[in-house]
Amino acid sequence: MIDEMTTVLEPSALPDFVETEYIKDITKRALSYINAGFPVHFRGPSGTGKTTLAMHLASKIKRPVVMIHGDEEFTTSDLVGGEYGYRIRKVVDRFISRVLKTEEDMVKRWVDNRLTVACKYGFTMIYDEFTRSRPEANNILLSILQEKMMDLPVGRGGEEPYLKVDPNFTAVFTSNPEEYAGVHRSQDALRDRMITMDLDHFDYDTELAVTRAKSKLSKPDVEVIVNVVRGLRESGKCEFAPTVRGCIMIAKTLKVQNMTPGKSDGKFMQMCQDILASETSRVGSKTNQSRVKEIVRELVAKELSVKRTIHVGGKTGEGVGMIKAVDGAGAEEKKESENLAAVTS
Ligand SMILES: Nc1ncnc2c1ncn2[C@@H]1O[C@H](COP(=O)(O)OP(=O)(O)OP(=O)(O)O)[C@@H](O)[C@H]1O
Ligand SMILES: [Mg+2]
Repeated sequence: MIDEMTTVLEPSALPDFVETEYIKDITKRALSYINAGFPVHFRGPSGTGKTTLAMHLASKIKRPVVMIHGDEEFTTSDLVGGEYGYRIRKVVDRFISRVLKTEEDMVKRWVDNRLTVACKYGFTMIYDEFTRSRPEANNILLSILQEKMMDLPVGRGGEEPYLKVDPNFTAVFTSNPEEYAGVHRSQDALRDRMITMDLDHFDYDTELAVTRAKSKLSKPDVEVIVNVVRGLRESGKCEFAPTVRGCIMIAKTLKVQNMTPGKSDGKFMQMCQDILASETSRVGSKTNQSRVKEIVRELVAKELSVKRTIHVGGKTGEGVGMIKAVDGAGAEEKKESENLAAVTS
């Protein structure tokens, strides 16, 4: 068994993966570029589904997968391989029984890293957040992607100084846009060798479907959450736009506490404020946090009031405080509107 094989993943469908029209469309386009022999690069802000899409694409390609996560500290040998440790050989000469002769021979041992493994066996390589690595570490990719040749350091020994890349080798890259902290500008030469697909936050249906799949909450409850998060995102008043992760966090927290937005005794409002203020501000940015909390408060109040107004028989325009509990929702529902009336007044 080859050591390096331990880092190879089986391509398999992801649990809870949802395939909306939006996801199908991106996957189809990306697969057509891969089939034409070009690496694909998903670029977009945090939470736009880049890593998940890359893994989904890899599962469609149906070859074993190696995954690399970009890192500032990476050197080329972290990608290609290097001489790790020693192989120790002992020769015990027992020819003359009174003499015990031991020869120790230390041979440096070359270990292929993930990129070499993927090129050698024609696997799919997912290079997640590749712009976190310094450009000089990634230079090795230029000849791999263009000439389908991989230059190997002399230390690898024995074989040719280069490796012919297996024709089944495929590369899928992801990155955050260059204005993000902690990323390097991707080199023009490298970017020119891949097809970049710019991703934005999910469309409504996908955001709803992903949040539902991850939390198992009911559709109307998830709608409230997604509307609040999208409302905050569209307000354009956050340091960082809230992502689908915010929706998932709120939905899962509600679910484990066995609550719904309408029956939470005011905790839903609190939860949205905590989660969304933390997701959209830098640590210690108090002004932004209180601004976000205020917007969230208004959005939640509006969402719950709309929901109740529909309950009350489709009449619109009623204020939150005037809403009556209906459908046997009982005391809790009433309490919620009292709470809301208190926060909105
Ligand atoms: N099609 C999908 N089906 C189910 N869940 C999804 C889907 N796409 C994304 N998600 C979920 O949405 C969240 C964000 O997705 P992902 O981690 O892929 O985003 P990203 O763009 O890689 O973010 P980052 O830049 O922060 O790494 C994750 O929790 C992921 O599981
Ligand atoms: Mg990611």
